[in-house]
Amino acid sequence: MKITIDDKKKLIIDILMKYGINKKDAETTANIYVEADLKGFSSHGMGRFPQTVIGLEKGNINPNPNISLIKESPATATVDGDMGLGYVIGKYAMNLAIEKAKNVGIGAVATVNANHFGITGYYSEMALDHDLIGIVITNTEPAMAPFGGTEKILGTNPIAIAIKGKKYTYSLDMATASLARGKLLEAVRLGKEIPDGCVIDKEGNITTDPSKGLEGCILPFGGPKGYGLALAIEILSALGGAEMGTNVKGTANPLDKCTKGDFFVAINPEFFGDKEVFMEKVDSLMEELKNSKPANGFSILIPGEIEKMNSEKNKLGFEIDAVLYDKLKDICDKKEIDLNKYIIE
Ligand SMILES: NC(=O)c1ccc[n+]([C@@H]2O[C@H](COP(=O)([O-])OP(=O)(O)OC[C@H]3O[C@@H](n4cnc5c(N)ncnc54)[C@H](O)[C@@H]3O)[C@@H](O)[C@H]2O)c1
Repeated sequence: MKITIDDKKKLIIDILMKYGINKKDAETTANIYVEADLKGFSSHGMGRFPQTVIGLEKGNINPNPNISLIKESPATATVDGDMGLGYVIGKYAMNLAIEKAKNVGIGAVATVNANHFGITGYYSEMALDHDLIGIVITNTEPAMAPFGGTEKILGTNPIAIAIKGKKYTYSLDMATASLARGKLLEAVRLGKEIPDGCVIDKEGNITTDPSKGLEGCILPFGGPKGYGLALAIEILSALGGAEMGTNVKGTANPLDKCTKGDFFVAINPEFFGDKEVFMEKVDSLMEELKNSKPANGFSILIPGEIEKMNSEKNKLGFEIDAVLYDKLKDICDKKEIDLNKYIIE
């Protein structure tokens, strides 16, 4: 079964609007889901959409939030998302950080009362359209053990950084867990194993079974260094008053109210040095990397390059697996939407 990009967006919009979400917010959400799938981050694409629907049904996602500011200064703000869709709050918060960076050189915006926002890189890349640098972090409900540990205390805590040269773009977007939890959920759905060495079961043994990994813990990437970075993200994401550690809930389980936080930063290179020279230097470094000698069987890529290639490859449409189809069918049937109108085969 296949679905085109346009129909995928339309399907998400049509379902969200049946849950009382206005067209603009539904479009924002649909665009971010589709961008995740286009980039190849299917762990955070449409496969995760049923989670949003459960959150809406349970009342943990507010379809009509009154997004407001708890605190504000020229360079900073804390946004209260009123438990709205994380996608909508994320876009709002990053736009605010961008406006502040344009005016005073830097904008840093924390959020509280916000739901899961999907791919972190969507928001950091928003800064690029304004020749700004974007940095975004968020914490999640526990899935990861500290280095050397066997208990879930930390989230999968992604970080995204986007920087623009004149020709090249750097866009890193990654979980600090050795595997994003979404990849485990996706592997369970598709009945696949996960790579060795990334997760442990309840007893602390390494396993390639994603269900056992979800019961046990994901390990941090890069040993103690990944753990250290994940811990910093756990803390900094809570600057606006959100929770940390085992008090974080509701990012993967929509039956719990979401208590995580996000932190959106935009930086204006013009306020620090000569923006043009900076961008040229970024390009020369990227060029140097691309022209350096690769190891056997490798090619040297800039972070974000794979996602650009994936977006090109995926623009013809996406496969919908049988499990996801059934979940979408249930959602559509409840809301009297004909799912087959959106599906090609
Ligand atoms: N919202 C949340 O709570 C949450 C939590 C965890 C992850 N996520 C999202 O899940 C998505 C997937 O995260 P992930 O950790 O599975 O991503 P991943 O492991 O696929 O890593 C992606 C990053 O590594 C870069 N990369 C990969 N191969 C490369 C190479 N050969 N050379 C240079 N760079 C390379 C990519 O360009 C990208 O920046 C991300 O969008 C992330 O933000 C969200």
